[in-house]
Amino acid sequence: MASLTVRQLDDKLKTLLRLRAARHGRSMEDEVRVILREAAAQADRGAGERLAAAARPKAQASSRAAEDGPRVVLIIGGGIAAYKSLELIRRLQERGARLRCILTRAARHFVTPLAVGALSGEPAFTELFDPQSEFDIGHIRLAREADLIVVAPATADLLAKMAGGHADDLATTVLLATDKPILIAPAMNPQMWAAKATARNLAQLAADGVGVVGPNFGEMAERGEAGLGRMAEPHEIVAAVEGLLQRGAALAGKRIVVTSGPTQEPIDPVRFIANRSSGKQGHAIAAAAAAAGGEVILVSGPVNLPDPPGVTVVRVETARQMFEAVEKALPSDVAIFAAAVADWRAESPSASKIKKRTGATPSLKLTENPDILASVGHRKTARPHLVIGFAAETDDVVANAQAKLTQKGCDWIVANDVSPESGIMGGDSNTVHLVTASGVESWPPQAKDRVAHLLVERIAAALEGAER
Ligand code: C5P
Repeated sequence: MASLTVRQLDDKLKTLLRLRAARHGRSMEDEVRVILREAAAQADRGAGERLAAAARPKAQASSRAAEDGPRVVLIIGGGIAAYKSLELIRRLQERGARLRCILTRAARHFVTPLAVGALSGEPAFTELFDPQSEFDIGHIRLAREADLIVVAPATADLLAKMAGGHADDLATTVLLATDKPILIAPAMNPQMWAAKATARNLAQLAADGVGVVGPNFGEMAERGEAGLGRMAEPHEIVAAVEGLLQRGAALAGKRIVVTSGPTQEPIDPVRFIANRSSGKQGHAIAAAAAAAGGEVILVSGPVNLPDPPGVTVVRVETARQMFEAVEKALPSDVAIFAAAVADWRAESPSASKIKKRTGATPSLKLTENPDILASVGHRKTARPHLVIGFAAETDDVVANAQAKLTQKGCDWIVANDVSPESGIMGGDSNTVHLVTASGVESWPPQAKDRVAHLLVERIAAALEGAER
């Protein structure tokens, strides 16, 4: 108390201070210190709230149901991917979610509570033993008053603590105290992701019913490092959140077979015929169908994608293997053929590597692959109620899709333009036309996860209509 002493206070204030100090069992000087500390904290919170208020009009203007939207607790772990959580807050708010955010101690090295509070519209929670926030909300209320808890980024350390049931800070205590669904978006160095301990922890979390989105394959924060470990993109996490929030609803009790990715047709043991399909759309559909409660069997060609959570994945290479796997997976309620199956294969692949000989260019005799979609679409027995094909076209997208509907005996065709300038092949977004016997619906360009989510909604509605 350099410039202010208790003696300088007027009598009335002094009496009030004496009473207050006595009530708290402190000296009058200590009481003044506590009052000043509380006032400073209040001012901090006020600044956060003013920033939040400044951010709010934008966030809420785009929010669909901020008043009664789902309540999401976002736990931000300590990794470089934490910067993407700021974007995630926005994206979740756009979907109408009401957010409360918790930052771990390590997360505060990457993003500040002020920035998180400003974006989320509520002060960020950081400490388990902070009397202010424990008095306001408390960790048990944080855990109980959520519809869903999202951990993004989920670091290797957080995964280990969750798997082991630790509760030594606010984040882990809330995670242990909740009975609500939990979604984690792991983010770590590829070596840490590949570590046996991480795999063990992840298996434990999956067994505990924790949902997982990502990680993705890509560049790491460390220069020149790439691999599996990048946190899923905010729009992918939002799609997983939406899926989890409606889990158990739309497709509960339905069996769904999905094909995805390219096929590889061998020419010899080292060469093959393939295409540029990434499998992103097919995998997103499988993930969305599983998140909607469906029993999903994903028959996938070679892709660089993680298995979607809650999906049975059958890995194949060739069209004929894919055909066999689909036949085995049937009967089902729905079959969705999103794979880019090679139309032809080498008639007689060489058992050994074809040698390069000057002046003797080998010729390749091709033969047609089975058309999996057409075969399932035209089935007389045990045909799925809904058979959905994809049409990747570079010209006359809709007209070709309409023709395919009858040729392949399917109920719907999801048609898209895959000309190189569309950027759809391998990209994250898609512009599709849903072609059915009753017409064509052109959907606006949107993320592949969003297309998947909408498609699943339409499938659920169609199945419900058929049951009525
Ligand atoms: O004839 P096209 O290859 O354009 O048809 C695309 C649709 O047919 C996609 O749904 C694809 O998964 C499916 N298809 C198939 N088996 C093939 C070729 C295509 O299931 N051999």
